Amino acid sequence: MKSIEVVYSPKLLPLYDLSGKLVVVIDILRASSTICVAFETGVNKVLPVAGIDECLIFKDFDFLIAAERNAIKVPAFDMGNSPFEFQNPLLAGKNIAFTTTNGTKALKMAKAQGAKEILIGSFLNLSALCKQLEELQLDVVLLCAGWKDKYNLEDSLFAGAVAAHLSDYFAKNDDACIAAIELYEKHANNLDEIIRKSSHANRFQLLHLHTDDIAFCSQIDYTQKVPKLVGEYLVI
Ligand code: MLT
Repeated sequence: MKSIEVVYSPKLLPLYDLSGKLVVVIDILRASSTICVAFETGVNKVLPVAGIDECLIFKDFDFLIAAERNAIKVPAFDMGNSPFEFQNPLLAGKNIAFTTTNGTKALKMAKAQGAKEILIGSFLNLSALCKQLEELQLDVVLLCAGWKDKYNLEDSLFAGAVAAHLSDYFAKNDDACIAAIELYEKHANNLDEIIRKSSHANRFQLLHLHTDDIAFCSQIDYTQKVPKLVGEYLVI
């Protein structure tokens, strides 16, 4: 039986051997949710980029550019990190270079550490993601982007949702995974409510922005698309 593990912070990732494993990158508020929306809108590919300056360069190379730091859109970029910005039909067929505080960083770490496959997960593509994980038959690592290397509630909740849905197919010998399932099962019927208690939701409130994003990112199965890293690009 294949295994499923949960990593609550990118800082813990070096403790895990990723060779031959599939990593699901999770940043519910909001990078992994927003990436799922971009592909549902019809974006061609997304290039995850580490830094703001590097991302800006792609403006000259047939890319739209999107950047967020500390939940705020970076000035001079085409988009920030709100899923609503990525619902714009004019994005269909476009390439997007994208950098965020935690999500794109976690993704690049998983790649640098030699993961065999990297997929993007969010409540928005929960069923489609679980179906692929069932079919691919690889050991799975659910990587929570967290907040600046610290634990966060919404990513852990989603890791628990995936692990709970797959519990018949994967062995769970990992306490982090068991804890995530317990968390999810307690709150499965009120996701929006528990996510609103998170520190990132509180951050949105303090900044007076994006409070609709929480309800949006708590929706299940908005899309059947499962973005996957191929080379340097996310595609479907
Ligand atoms: C991130 O990658 O840090 C997040 O998606 C932050 C956000 O924009 O809410």
